[in-house]
Amino acid sequence: MYREMDRTWAQGAAKKLIEKMQVVTARSKEKIPYRTQDGVFDDCSDDAHIGWWTNGFWGGEMWQLYHLTGEEMYREAALLVEEKLDAVLLRYQDMDHDSGFRYLPTAVAHWRVDHNEASKNRGLLAAANLAGRFNLQGQFIRAWNDFGNIDRRGFAIIDCMMNLPLLYWASEVTEDPRFEMIARAHANTCKKAFLREDGSAHHIVNFDIATGDMKEAVGGQGYGVGSSWTRGQAWALYGFTLSYLHGKDPEYLAAAKASADYFISCIPESGPIPVDFRQPRDVTWEDSTAAAIAACGLIELYRCLIKDAGEGWTPDAEKYLSAAMKLLRTLDEQRCIWGTESDALLTKCTAAYHDAEHEFTIIYGDYFFIEAIMKLLEKELFIW
Ligand code: GLY
Repeated sequence: MYREMDRTWAQGAAKKLIEKMQVVTARSKEKIPYRTQDGVFDDCSDDAHIGWWTNGFWGGEMWQLYHLTGEEMYREAALLVEEKLDAVLLRYQDMDHDSGFRYLPTAVAHWRVDHNEASKNRGLLAAANLAGRFNLQGQFIRAWNDFGNIDRRGFAIIDCMMNLPLLYWASEVTEDPRFEMIARAHANTCKKAFLREDGSAHHIVNFDIATGDMKEAVGGQGYGVGSSWTRGQAWALYGFTLSYLHGKDPEYLAAAKASADYFISCIPESGPIPVDFRQPRDVTWEDSTAAAIAACGLIELYRCLIKDAGEGWTPDAEKYLSAAMKLLRTLDEQRCIWGTESDALLTKCTAAYHDAEHEFTIIYGDYFFIEAIMKLLEKELFIW
């Protein structure tokens, strides 16, 4: 399915990855990391941080590494995360649209490995909560809960395309189409309201919560309204690809291709990905997470097209794989700490353009970089 040179790259990366992660996991396995400080992972296991949306990704890394190596240490670390996240299931205020990010790489990944009832129960509770966020009139899944003094009841965000696979999974295991119907309705709304003519995507759209009408696009984690937040674009291209994978609706394939083509057209010659494709020219802030997520989405899109062509070659598919490899090689050669001096892998990750801090390490950058390597090795535990 992959070119020889891409498999060779992935094998080399996996060797370095295993060497590093054996050491890092041994010293961090009881944590739920978000980022490093002076090379050492922090820990979001405590009551104040357990609800943070990124808390599933360390579990996801552990499941991928367990799948690759069979080493118990990784499975044990993944199970610890899953148990800790039970606290969140009981906290209405912490449960938001990011349930997919929390529970697909943890409870659902565990269920995929051994079909145990406890993990299935966790996944279904999370899916039911996610489905309950659906605004029937506007046909969208509400994003965040209320905090501060901004009214977010009508906010939907492009990131949520990546949470829909929790609903697809729930319909599959319950043989009840309700969850999938909600996922498809949200994806249809996203396609109409978020994707612009050129394939770029809004981050946030605000809907009237009573009439369901689109009121406005709102500036989010990118530069501003009308800009092009690179991680949001990566969520769009991977998210629409996954909706296509689950439902085979050609509308989602078209949306995935439009998002991907736009992303590819913006990749700088030098390789690293900025925080926003439309940030001011004198701003050099990067976001390696966007590169890693986009690479995963592009590989998955490549796989869909190859499968649709009966495992045959198509020029379109090749274009997506080549772009993914450019992103991954850039990360490997320029933005990766392969030694054990840091617990994290990727450097220059940025959570949001207007945050005070930019270009640090972030757990989901590492997760998606590992997922991309696993895809190329054909050893991935499929999470989405
Ligand atoms: N909410 C997901 C992100 O920051 O990309």
